[in-house]
Amino acid sequence: MKKLFSLIMIMALLAVFAPVVSAAPPAQGQEYIVTAGDWLSKVADKYLGNPQAWPAVMSATNQKNLEDSTFAKIANADLIEPGWKLWVPSMEEAEAFLATYDPGKPELLFGKGAAGQLVVGSWWTAGGEAEGLNGMFKIYKEKYPDVEIVNATVAGGAGTNFKAVLKTRLIGGDPPDTFQLHAGLEVEGYSPEQYLEPVDDIYASEGLEEAFPADLLTLLKYEDHYWGVPVNIHRSNVLWYNKAVFEANSLTPPSDFDEFKTVAEALKAAGITPFVLGTKDGWEAGHIFEDILAGTLGAEKYSGLWTGDTPWTDPGVTQALENFKMMLSYANPDHSAHTWDSAGEFLIAGTGGMMIMGDWTDGWFTSKGFTGYGWAPPPGTKGIFVALSDSFAMPKNAPNEENAGNWLKVCGSLEGQEAFNPQKGSICARTDCDPALFNAYLQSAMVDWSQDAIVASVAHGAAAYESWATDYKDVLTLFVASGDVAAAQAGLQQACVDAGICQ
Ligand code: GAL
Repeated sequence: MKKLFSLIMIMALLAVFAPVVSAAPPAQGQEYIVTAGDWLSKVADKYLGNPQAWPAVMSATNQKNLEDSTFAKIANADLIEPGWKLWVPSMEEAEAFLATYDPGKPELLFGKGAAGQLVVGSWWTAGGEAEGLNGMFKIYKEKYPDVEIVNATVAGGAGTNFKAVLKTRLIGGDPPDTFQLHAGLEVEGYSPEQYLEPVDDIYASEGLEEAFPADLLTLLKYEDHYWGVPVNIHRSNVLWYNKAVFEANSLTPPSDFDEFKTVAEALKAAGITPFVLGTKDGWEAGHIFEDILAGTLGAEKYSGLWTGDTPWTDPGVTQALENFKMMLSYANPDHSAHTWDSAGEFLIAGTGGMMIMGDWTDGWFTSKGFTGYGWAPPPGTKGIFVALSDSFAMPKNAPNEENAGNWLKVCGSLEGQEAFNPQKGSICARTDCDPALFNAYLQSAMVDWSQDAIVASVAHGAAAYESWATDYKDVLTLFVASGDVAAAQAGLQQACVDAGICQ
């Protein structure tokens, strides 16, 4: 009797649940707890039969994390830790995701908050740069907690790699929500009328015309519109040196090219690489040379190079190339294998004496806990400030337009700039930041910015159209390898002709 009752109960239960069970998908997603020695592709292989399916696991886990914080947030696919809770999607879900997955769109790996995402494109991956950017993200997150920020960086100093990726996205109609853009003529390279949204309304609503200095506003305006909100002012022309090395050898930083040679000889005799340099990314030689041009020609003639008032055939340009050649003879021979920051390691280690690089180096030193650095204007540039500014722009059809607009507001705000710049190694674009928040180098940069002759950097988008700047940088990269002064000068002249500025 008891048995019969049980049988009837089982049959009744089956009758109730059977249709539900058979209608459900064959395999559901599942939780997975990371153990030592795991990595995402291993998990993907085990559960989805395909190591390449890791992006599906990352994306699904990140989406779950937004709904339930006991799930991990995976910021970097290569870094998962034992104990983390992942979500492995069903086979069907994984296949659907992978069918449209595009590795060029990092936002696909992250979840969507209740108010969507904010996809921020930049090349700030080095120490100092990354921290500064995070400082602004923190403020944004406090204000807009329902927005998931996606840090869509592409490594490579001066945007060498990022700019190409961005162009592809803009042309493909697939832009990030906002992206890093140098103030100045660089904007022309993105065909702003076609691909970008003017941000004049943000200037108006946030009172930005009152917040930034007049010269910067002039630099930012192109075709009568603002296309980006500036977060900072950087200085291109800084000579960094290792203070202990200089003290041990009773040296002071050189103020002209003859002194540079004397100091370099002394360092060489002491077994130290006098001039540390990285030329791996193809822009660094152009960067250093703009400082040498300014130091050889002076502020006015330097600026004239970009307007056609100073001919590239000028003997001063020949002299600048000779100066650079002399300096290169004191450089680390393996410079083509180094980036600006990996070359900086020589300076930190005290095996290198001097380096010329923009003041993001100050942020980088600080992020590395290195305080033994001194600074001076590179030879001939006392009283000259070779300037550039990073801004954030908004593409047309940004997927999360409102979020992007709010990001630009944070970028332009006092709060945003005070969080960003002390870590980035730049000074505020705004005029009202509190100097007490900044270290000694940055305070000195603020003073110089207020009283020096300001000239525009070409290596960082301010002085010339992107196409001319690229030709210029390419000539300098060749020069570093060949040392051929005449060929380099002819190449620079030709670049100016091709830009339509020289005859
Ligand atoms: C510049 C940029 C700086 C810094 C540097 C090195 O172009 O303006 O903010 O990031 O590149 O990457």
